Amino acid sequence: MVMAAITYISQILNGMMMVAMIFQTLSRGMAAARRLGEVLDTDPSIVRDETLPHCTEGQKGTVSFRGVRFAYAASSKNVLHDIDLDIAAGETLAVIGATGCGKSTLANLIPRFYDVTGGQILVNGTDVRAWELSELRERVTLCLQKSELFSTTIRDNIAIGRPGATQEEIEAAARAAQADSFIRQQPQGYDTPVAERGMSLSGGQRQRIAIARALLKRSEILVFDDATSALDLKTEAKLYEVLNRDYTDVTKIIIAQRIASVQNADRIVVIDGGTVAACGSHRELMASSPIYRDIYDSQLREEATA
Ligand SMILES: Nc1ncnc2c1ncn2[C@@H]1O[C@H](COP(=O)(O)OP(=O)(O)O)[C@@H](O)[C@H]1O
Ligand SMILES: [Mg+2]
Repeated sequence: MVMAAITYISQILNGMMMVAMIFQTLSRGMAAARRLGEVLDTDPSIVRDETLPHCTEGQKGTVSFRGVRFAYAASSKNVLHDIDLDIAAGETLAVIGATGCGKSTLANLIPRFYDVTGGQILVNGTDVRAWELSELRERVTLCLQKSELFSTTIRDNIAIGRPGATQEEIEAAARAAQADSFIRQQPQGYDTPVAERGMSLSGGQRQRIAIARALLKRSEILVFDDATSALDLKTEAKLYEVLNRDYTDVTKIIIAQRIASVQNADRIVVIDGGTVAACGSHRELMASSPIYRDIYDSQLREEATA
């Protein structure tokens, strides 16, 4: 009798707890749905400006900065100012400068993740604000220091660069990115699943998968924002060698910390105080730019002590 009562009561209590849990899940889900709805309903602030001229067959692969000024919010101070720069099709332009000087900001302005506060940026001769956003971002590929990897195979992670790419194209991109040999050493080669956020891979391996993805896209303008920071100098040098040899039609903008990474670029831009402090080849800058020489000397010292 007592046993039966206890059993029934505990069953009822269990049931009540289930109901409470369902309500909790339901209310959480509803709050999440509301927030998601708000995001989806937001009108994008970055849209095509119909009033600006758009030349469809402009100078393919060129990027120009005309008096560019940028601040993150209307009230805050300028991160960049008076940037004037013409980047030719197929050129390799390196960007170097202290941490926080605005290199990533500069990179983000090209695919129009932010709008300039003053001046203008032209891609293929057309103001980025006049491009249909999808068309602009087809032409400009940004490869980051930390790119997202997804919980799927290595092959599929690379293929995100161009859905529908063939096996050969994927493997060619991986070879160019110096990733092919380590991928083949994985337990299932290209079909090895990548663990959550790529934790099963080293930083340099993750970066090379991201680079393969970017190369596979084959867009006209390739921006590397510290995208090779975790590669050793030898692997990095091999990558740049391939880029210079096989990607001559692609405009390469390479942001880097190490002078060793960029000294073979056609031109190197030194950013200081939010603007272009010097621009030229490695040899020219060594002769003419005290800031560049300072960076060079400090990196030599670091190497010596390491
Ligand atoms: N989303 C942001 N909002 C406000 N300030 C930012 C944002 N991103 C970067 N900054 C600021 O802009 C400056 C330049 O940053 P960044 O472009 O990342 O420099 P770098 O890539 O050269 O290290 C820094 O002072 C940084 O604090
Ligand atoms: Mg940066």
